[in-house]
Amino acid sequence: MSSDEVLTNHSYDGIQEYDNPLPGWWKWTFVGTAVFSVLYFMYYHLGAPGRSIYEQYDRELAEVTRLQFQEIGELQPTEATILEYMGKENWLKIGEVVFKTHCASCHGRHGEGKVGPNLTDEFYKHVRKLEDIARVVQDGANAGAMPAWGNRLHVNEIVLVSAYVASLRGTNVSGGKSAEGNPIPAWPSAVASHEPQTSAAEDTSPSETSD
Ligand code: HEC
Repeated sequence: MSSDEVLTNHSYDGIQEYDNPLPGWWKWTFVGTAVFSVLYFMYYHLGAPGRSIYEQYDRELAEVTRLQFQEIGELQPTEATILEYMGKENWLKIGEVVFKTHCASCHGRHGEGKVGPNLTDEFYKHVRKLEDIARVVQDGANAGAMPAWGNRLHVNEIVLVSAYVASLRGTNVSGGKSAEGNPIPAWPSAVASHEPQTSAAEDTSPSETSD
């Protein structure tokens, strides 16, 4: 402590304090942040709609999805297409995002079932073949207990979320809702296409897929 430091003239229980003001650069940086926050708030939250980072994010996400969909064109909700996309990890991820966004509230985050049935077991009420999943998603079931998504989701989203739902089958998430409906035949075997070629060579040739 140099001797030119000045004591303030108050004392708390005998404790005294030097008069050391904050450096000017510090004070003005602080004032600057306060002013910035007001301008920021006015620009992003009170300004023209669509400026907030959430809205920007949504716009960019929609744009990316649109570009991606351009790449695959308009999918058909058929067995063959759903089967094909069950084997494509990166597209399945989009199906997963659709599921987590729109379906998890009723079917559980991992498909384990809540209001809606468990989608991770071998039992189904409305599904026997892959394309039935897309049909149920599109049209709904049980007088709207399962809502229709046909006019709320892009057909590609319906195909991709169907592929994702199909991929949940047999994962038997623990603590899931008990089975509803009937056991159904296995999905066609082409799902194994992302397994090593040699293991499939024995008795399941892809050309056998009947239709
Ligand atoms: C509001 C709740 C709700 C939402 C949201 C919902 N579902 Fe459902 N879902 C149900 C109910 C309830 C049923 C069972 C209908 C019945 O009992 O016949 C069902 C049935 C199904 C079935 C048929 C299951 C079977 O056993 O045959 C599939 C597949 C399905 N939903 C997929 C989805 C997908 C994919 C989404 C998201 C796009 C979704 N659901 C969103 C409530 C919902």
